[in-house]
Amino acid sequence: MGERSKGFVGVFDSGLGGISVLRSLVAELPHEGFRYFGDSAHAPYGEKSEAEVLELSRAIVERFLADGAKAIVIACNTATSAAAATLRAAHPDVPIVGIEPALKPAARAFPRGRILVMATEMTLQLDKYHDLARAWGGECEVVPVPCPGLAARIERGDLDAPDLAEMIEGLVGSYAGSVDAVVLGCTHYPFVRTQIERVLGPGVAFFDGGAGTARQLRKRLSDEGLLAADGHPGRVEFASSLDTPDELALYRSFFHMER
Ligand code: DGL
Repeated sequence: MGERSKGFVGVFDSGLGGISVLRSLVAELPHEGFRYFGDSAHAPYGEKSEAEVLELSRAIVERFLADGAKAIVIACNTATSAAAATLRAAHPDVPIVGIEPALKPAARAFPRGRILVMATEMTLQLDKYHDLARAWGGECEVVPVPCPGLAARIERGDLDAPDLAEMIEGLVGSYAGSVDAVVLGCTHYPFVRTQIERVLGPGVAFFDGGAGTARQLRKRLSDEGLLAADGHPGRVEFASSLDTPDELALYRSFFHMER
């Protein structure tokens, strides 16, 4: 086993949403060390320009690599769409794993179904999403639902507050009782899955990209001989561009949340 396999995996998002992905990563690869960085000072990414998201993502990845990361997970659909290709071209020797809306498994499960794809406006505008919908949409009715403001609201915590329920009602209430599946195409949204379910009614299937991203990371680490040795659990560390004790406590509470 080489020295490089002892490095950590750097995971980032515009804020605390990527912690939903981190949970899947730790479940799939419990022996890896993970460092999570949430760029909460600059959230939401989905309402910035593509160039700004690229620059913010580039700075985070370069810092991770300078600190000794052996691999990177972009735990943000928006940053993956805006920056993954450029970052991979700049760092061809580093596994850089992104996340995309889980339309493929949703369309497989409901080949003629009506599927909502909830995501940021930027994710739904960029080519990656259109390529995905073309490749996997098949005979489904795929309905893109941009959710401006939702990630920023989730960033503030207090997920059971009435204003958040009202916001979700406003975004998806008109689809109640008429959809088969929902793709949570922003990594913040799995934290409000129950609230979305409450609005849409029972029997709706939910899909997110966390588990697929974790499997992809395992494959890339294994292919490159970078998997950590078994034995004891890896460390999971948190940092934020809003580096206050309250913010980091919020991150930890999302990491341990039962939902
Ligand atoms: N969590 C991010 C995503 O998966 C973006 C949220 C935001 O900052 O707009 O798209």
